[in-house]
Amino acid sequence: MDTGFEITVARDFEDLTEQASDLISQSITNQTRVRDRVTVVLSGGSTPRRLYERLARGDVVAKIPWGRVHLFWGDERCGPPEDPKSNYRMAYESLIRWIPIPPENIHRMPFDLPDPERAAEEYEASLRRFFGPSEGEWPRFDVVLLGVGPDGHTASLFPNSPVLGERKRWVAAVYVEKLKNHRLTLTVPVFNHAAQVIFLVAGKEKARVMKTLRPAEPKRVRFPYQLIRPHTGRLTFLLDREAAGSLQPS
Ligand code: 6PG
Repeated sequence: MDTGFEITVARDFEDLTEQASDLISQSITNQTRVRDRVTVVLSGGSTPRRLYERLARGDVVAKIPWGRVHLFWGDERCGPPEDPKSNYRMAYESLIRWIPIPPENIHRMPFDLPDPERAAEEYEASLRRFFGPSEGEWPRFDVVLLGVGPDGHTASLFPNSPVLGERKRWVAAVYVEKLKNHRLTLTVPVFNHAAQVIFLVAGKEKARVMKTLRPAEPKRVRFPYQLIRPHTGRLTFLLDREAAGSLQPS
């Protein structure tokens, strides 16, 4: 019995990219038909680069009314503004510089601020200005893209991190010991209030953690990515065969 999410297994990485491009462009286009602002949260890491390049290709660019799309980030590596490792830089090089999106629609995390805690507070303040929530209301992002690391982390929600239990703040600063790096991340409740979450997962190094995608009991969560279960939103896992291992499509 599925627990309210869909699993798609692509033939290979190219097929995965194509299916992700179709799903995301369709979701964005559908949303722009019913609202004048569509919020999209981008993931970092290496997997989505090909997807962003695909979204920037002519046949897809023309389909999406980019003037109504607002881009945000699910997490970011703290560092200098020109840091080639930043998730913003990767998205800029592979997507943003190639699409007709107004600069004011790009809501990058202030990852270059010297104080990560202040950077998290500033990004949360900017999100609150954008969404204008009532007291206690969470933001509802339209489309959220996430990846999964070989240890089961997603965004910058790493195993055993205190931020996994954060239930008040929208944005948190975390120090990742094994990476010796400060990071900024949206928190679990923010992802779980989204209208749609799409995990894009590729490579055999992810197969071990993806095995528990359908935990025996929903409560037995072993990896941070399993905490992401949108309350009312749509949840899709897009995997290539290597990452899926023995998992069957739903
Ligand atoms: C980051 C990402 C991170 C990523 C996973 C998977 O900043 O690194 O946000 O959560 O999605 O680590 O990364 P790959 O796509 O490189 O495997």
